Amino acid sequence: MEMSEKITYLNHPLIQHKISILRNKNTGTNEFRQLVEEIAMLEGYEALKDLPLEDVEVETPIETCMTPMISGRKLAIVPILRAGLGMVEGILALVPSAKVGHIGLYRDEVTFEPHEYYCKLPNPIEERTIVVCDPMLATGGSAVDAITMIKKHGGKNIKFMCIIAAPDGVKKLHEAHPDVQIYVGHLDRCLNENAYICPGLGDAGDRIFGTK
Ligand code: PRP
Ligand code: URA
Repeated sequence: MEMSEKITYLNHPLIQHKISILRNKNTGTNEFRQLVEEIAMLEGYEALKDLPLEDVEVETPIETCMTPMISGRKLAIVPILRAGLGMVEGILALVPSAKVGHIGLYRDEVTFEPHEYYCKLPNPIEERTIVVCDPMLATGGSAVDAITMIKKHGGKNIKFMCIIAAPDGVKKLHEAHPDVQIYVGHLDRCLNENAYICPGLGDAGDRIFGTK
């Protein structure tokens, strides 16, 4: 795969350790949910390191000083429903003032094509840094369509965060949206005949919400 400075593989030991627990089929819903949130927070720490700052005046108990705070419009976190919802609280723990939009997509079980059923974004979306999140980047169809939809609404400064990706998905997303910075917790081997990531962790939505 072509390497690009637009794709960041997050190889921090804490992220890798937590992903390994996620993969285990015996990890229950409660722990799974908690880990997805923690990984999202660790990934967010890296993904948000270029947020713009501006100096503001603050009075400390000692004196008045100019000190940096995050500037501009509040961040927009946009989970792809359902599984992306599991990552929202982890990012909100870092940026509690962020706004949250939602994009509803599901993959057709036969064609694996994504179908849109919901889109609500915080305005003015064109002035915000947007973090799209979904734990799984498999064929890349859902991420590509979600970002196309955000761009149609005016979104410009877009980052995509996932926990596990397949090489096909990273390639497809990067080719479709070369301006989007992609953050990947772990790059897995391949997709199987059902377009599931191998070794992966199974169906992320089902494991987060306890459905089957
Ligand atoms: C899963 C996952 C992604 C998508 C990835 O969602 O959360 O959104 O599949 O696959 P892709 O890269 O091949 O598009 P799913 O469609 O199963 O919906 P759900 O989150 O509601 O379970
Ligand atoms: N969606 C998931 O939840 N898991 C996969 O492995 C692929 C798509």
